[in-house]
Amino acid sequence: MNKTKNKKNSLAKFVKPMALGGALILLSQSPLVFASDSQEIPDTIDINIQTRCPDIKDLPLDKKNMTGFSHRAHAEKYLPGNNEFAAHPYKDEFTCAACHFGIADAKGITEEEVCDRLSKAIETGGGGKNYKKYMHNICLTCHKNMKTAEKTGGPTSCKECHKKKE
Ligand code: HEC
Ligand code: HEC
Ligand code: HEC
Repeated sequence: MNKTKNKKNSLAKFVKPMALGGALILLSQSPLVFASDSQEIPDTIDINIQTRCPDIKDLPLDKKNMTGFSHRAHAEKYLPGNNEFAAHPYKDEFTCAACHFGIADAKGITEEEVCDRLSKAIETGGGGKNYKKYMHNICLTCHKNMKTAEKTGGPTSCKECHKKKE
């Protein structure tokens, strides 16, 4: 699966120029979220904090990752209307706060260097040793609450998010 790997590696390089120069294309792709905020929303993301930010303290051993997270679909399609199920409150007009919690606008995501931003967020969430809990709270809480409410949410079984690592 080299394709997704390359995507991850190029993400940081990709996001910044897009945030500066890609506004026009992006606006036409995402009329629903942020008509006024020319912000790039990556389509899919590979999530593996240990590879990306190895300097964050006390992270658990790298046993799991998640490839191909449907980032844009979550922000634009899955989250609107479902805020009552989330661990972190958000508004349909600004779903970003569900996962990037504590931020007031999309600039709050890109203005800071990625690992600095994540390090602070994880610190607020109990530090590196709590990373699994921190992440599962963001993702799994909503999926589980939706399941309990008999709504069509996302997966709650380990294997559906953590496919075998390459
Ligand atoms: C909705 C998706 C989802 C489900 C379901 C899920 N996880 Fe995770 N989990 C994640 C994400 C995202 C991370 C962060 C991965 C990363 O940064 O490497 C994570 C991190 C972890 C970590 C921390 C270690 C590491 O390498 O980052 C462990 C351990 C883990 N999950 C185990 C499990 C187990 C066991 C289950 C089933 C009971 C499970 N997960 C279910 C999304 C999920
Ligand atoms: C369902 C969860 C979720 C939602 C909703 C969400 N994101 Fe993300 N986003 C993530 C995760 C997880 C990452 C990877 C870890 C990180 O960089 O915070 C990420 C990464 C990003 C990145 C890349 C940062 C970098 O430099 O690598 C940008 C930009 C971003 N998100 C913007 C947004 C915007 C704008 C919104 C709202 C329209 C949004 N996200 C909504 C979960 C989400
Ligand atoms: C506020 C609710 C909410 C949050 C937060 C959330 N999800 Fe989801 N997730 C959904 C819904 C709703 C669906 C779509 C169900 C459908 O229509 O099939 C979904 C679908 C999924 C799917 C399967 C379908 C697909 O398109 O990928 C995965 C995998 C997934 N989510 C992972 C995650 C991860 C990882 C996070 C955290 C970074 C996360 N979700 C955060 C609500 C949420």
